[in-house]
Amino acid sequence: MTDLKKMTVAASGKLRQVAYDILNEQTRLLSWQQGGKVPQEQFDSWLAEAEGLYSIGNIKVDEAFLDKTPKLKVIAQASVGYDNIDIAACSAHGIAVGNTPGVLVDAVADLAYGLILDSARSIARGWRHVESGKWGERKGLGFGVDLAGKTLGIVGLGDIGSAVVPRAQASKMKVIYHNRHRRADEAALGISYAGFDDLLQTADFVLVTVNLTPATAGMFNEEAFAKMKPTARFINISRGRVVETQALYEALRSGQIAYAAIDVVEPEPLPGDHPLLTLSNITVTPHIAASTVETRDAMAKLAAANILAGLAGDPLPAQVQIKD
Ligand code: DGY
Repeated sequence: MTDLKKMTVAASGKLRQVAYDILNEQTRLLSWQQGGKVPQEQFDSWLAEAEGLYSIGNIKVDEAFLDKTPKLKVIAQASVGYDNIDIAACSAHGIAVGNTPGVLVDAVADLAYGLILDSARSIARGWRHVESGKWGERKGLGFGVDLAGKTLGIVGLGDIGSAVVPRAQASKMKVIYHNRHRRADEAALGISYAGFDDLLQTADFVLVTVNLTPATAGMFNEEAFAKMKPTARFINISRGRVVETQALYEALRSGQIAYAAIDVVEPEPLPGDHPLLTLSNITVTPHIAASTVETRDAMAKLAAANILAGLAGDPLPAQVQIKD
């Protein structure tokens, strides 16, 4: 039986306590628990020895990175997205890659629904209005719009998008979706399929839940925003790079669309003096969709389980498949 205690696991950042406890007890763990970034030289020396890597998504894993990891058998990314990792390169090096699907679905769906509601009812904008002392001014905020009777268009309907559906239906919204492939359960979910252009033209709220891939990078560009209604609200909880930031800025500035409520943006972190933040018709949250105590702990536990399985040479509980 493999003696995991003799195997080295490096972490690219501070681990949640639950993952730290599991991995520190069962493996030789090298982690930077004081927070911030591990000094590069230190990290490189850890990578030279590591059989397991716990990634919090703050590193780019490509061929150049893998040159530094001669002993690596498993990478556990503590998120569902793994666009920072070259899966084909890892596979060619015999390295298994795990992620954390499932456990964050409700948390992310809740935030997506919250941003839909915010974009309709000016929650963040209302707060900015009050905070700036303008409550009572004649012009005021203007009215929001009802969710009831409106159409939500979900682009990239997977587990998270599916979990948003009943939340939207509870607000009496109609839901349409666009995927590369139609879903067999669309009738059971009470949703209908639309082509991409059709969805953009029809939806009152456009919610993006696609994975970031070469095919989806920049798919929300000038052309896509031009197809949306001037009253459309745009919500993104996937990855910032599926949107061309300049095109989003122009669409909001010119009134081509009414509002954007986004949890992800390119670049992250968004600098405080970024032009997007000069607009009044946007809400930006700092990539917090999965950031609840319970969900982060569940993600950390699953990532730790992926590491332990990979070190033992077993299939990972949540293994990324190369076809992805
Ligand atoms: C994920 O898990 O990919 C989320 O974006 C993290 O918040």
